[in-house]
Amino acid sequence: PAKVRLRHLQEAKDAGRSFSMLTSYDALSARVFEEAGIDVLLAGDSAGTTVLGFESTVHTTHQDIVTFTAAVARSVSRPLVVADLAFGSYQVDVAEAVRNGVELLRAGAEAVKLEGGAARSETVRALVDAGIPVMGHLGFTPQSVNVLSGHRVQGRDHAAADRLAEDAQALQEAGAFAVVLELLPSEVSGRITEFLEIPTIGIGAGPDCDGQVLVWQDMAGLSGFEGRFVRRFADLRGELLRAATEYREAVETKEYPTAEHSFE
Ligand code: KIV
Ligand code: NA
Repeated sequence: PAKVRLRHLQEAKDAGRSFSMLTSYDALSARVFEEAGIDVLLAGDSAGTTVLGFESTVHTTHQDIVTFTAAVARSVSRPLVVADLAFGSYQVDVAEAVRNGVELLRAGAEAVKLEGGAARSETVRALVDAGIPVMGHLGFTPQSVNVLSGHRVQGRDHAAADRLAEDAQALQEAGAFAVVLELLPSEVSGRITEFLEIPTIGIGAGPDCDGQVLVWQDMAGLSGFEGRFVRRFADLRGELLRAATEYREAVETKEYPTAEHSFE
């Protein structure tokens, strides 16, 4: 199947075809997701929580994401590889944002994602001008968890919904090629999806977005995360727990290894 490029996501939206995105931060998961036909892989800053054990994504550094991006990018050829700009790596000034975007593309990303709307217009424009495609991210923006008083659905009142719509419009005008919408009422994300020309990608934002994204360890039942918006398509935690327990028991009872696992 042909390499996924920006225009394929736009073509999917225009044709009313939904597309899939998953996070990936390592070679083995990336190869599996490529084989499964996932269109977009995100080396997301959620790696700070799912892989590195932090409480929130404010702890994920730019260098962390460079490492994870490179692991994914060297492992796949078809999916579009997108990398998050880390908290603090694009807010200080535009020049620093472009430098960090350049590093993510050198690590193998084909686009970057950053959080925020109209306030980030100038940064988005500078990145795109430099040849770095930008995916926006609106609604619940995890890097602002402290400002937002925790993980909460956004855009619930009319004023907030209107501000989100304006932010989405601002990102499109600044040159973003797609926008992630996180934790929004379906009605709000549906309205934004309808008036935006560029594709929206939902997470906890209902069925009307142009594409969907999940954190892979949530989707596969490894993280144990119980959010309403997650369907667990597997029970990897249960399977891994069973395997590790049986391995330990086999070692303790000397039932493993046997002659067939050993060298003469
Ligand atoms: O880092 C991440 O996992 C994300 C997705 C949930 C959109 O930003
Ligand atoms: Na992220």
